[in-house]
Amino acid sequence: MGTLRIGCSKMLLVMFATILMGCCMVCHGGNFYQDFDLTWGGNRAKIFGKGQLLSLSLDRVSGSGFQSKKEYLFGRIDMQLKLVAGNSAGTVTAYYLSSQGPTHDEIDFEFLGNVTGQPYILHTNVFTQGKGGREQQFYLWFDPTKNFHTYSIIWKPQHIIFLVDNTPIRVFKNGESIGVAFPKKQPMKIYSSLWNADDWATRGGLVKTDWSHAPFTAYYRNFNAQTFTASQFNDGKWQSQELDAYGRRRLRWVQKNFMIYNYCTDYKRFPQGFPAECRHF
Ligand SMILES: *[C@@H]1O[C@H](CO)[C@@H](O)[C@H](O)[C@H]1NC(C)=O
Repeated sequence: MGTLRIGCSKMLLVMFATILMGCCMVCHGGNFYQDFDLTWGGNRAKIFGKGQLLSLSLDRVSGSGFQSKKEYLFGRIDMQLKLVAGNSAGTVTAYYLSSQGPTHDEIDFEFLGNVTGQPYILHTNVFTQGKGGREQQFYLWFDPTKNFHTYSIIWKPQHIIFLVDNTPIRVFKNGESIGVAFPKKQPMKIYSSLWNADDWATRGGLVKTDWSHAPFTAYYRNFNAQTFTASQFNDGKWQSQELDAYGRRRLRWVQKNFMIYNYCTDYKRFPQGFPAECRHF
């Protein structure tokens, strides 16, 4: 009886703490007015709900987009997105970090829409010194249009990790020791846009955007950017393994069950041999 009561009050405490934490995340989860500029598409891009929500839309005339006011050099960037629902074929929602100029670095999430009931493709890429071509594509294990889900980028000098709802889906390691450039010096801004790409997006351009369903709308909330301090980088823990055992298991699960394209296994594309990072990691 006694232990049961202790168990109960412990549980209540945990529940209470969880609720509190959830509340704090909402309260301090950033404010879109403060953190972002609407840059494209006129009133197709909107901030509302006291700065807690942002939406982008696309119609026959134009798409829309926004970008962060600040630049980031390393950090963990989280954003929750709810993608265009229904028939979203031909639409692309891009969400990425990028620096400027011809030798820019870039870390990409792109969501390729589909006809109702068919899966979105999550397309990822990494550009270093202006060079990309490192695509990996995934299906998701949930319907990304029903609810908000969290898409995160952890960017450290040692590696870049892409996460979906905290599950790592891709790791890009620092390959400077094998001659592969790594984003390390150029600060990046956060960008997002919703646009029409029915010349290539859905089934390679076979399915066209159905404008009778326009406007198409995607939603954003709970932006959070956490920057790292120098002492955190030197913390031995972060210099070794990028993921713990559980993270590595989740990554394998995603790559085994949901990865539909990996440039590192595309023999046709690299008949002369794969890029160095594919051969060494
Ligand atoms: C759309 O659905 C088709 C059929 O299920 C699938 O082959 C394709 O990968 C899906 N996604 C995109 C973006 O084309």
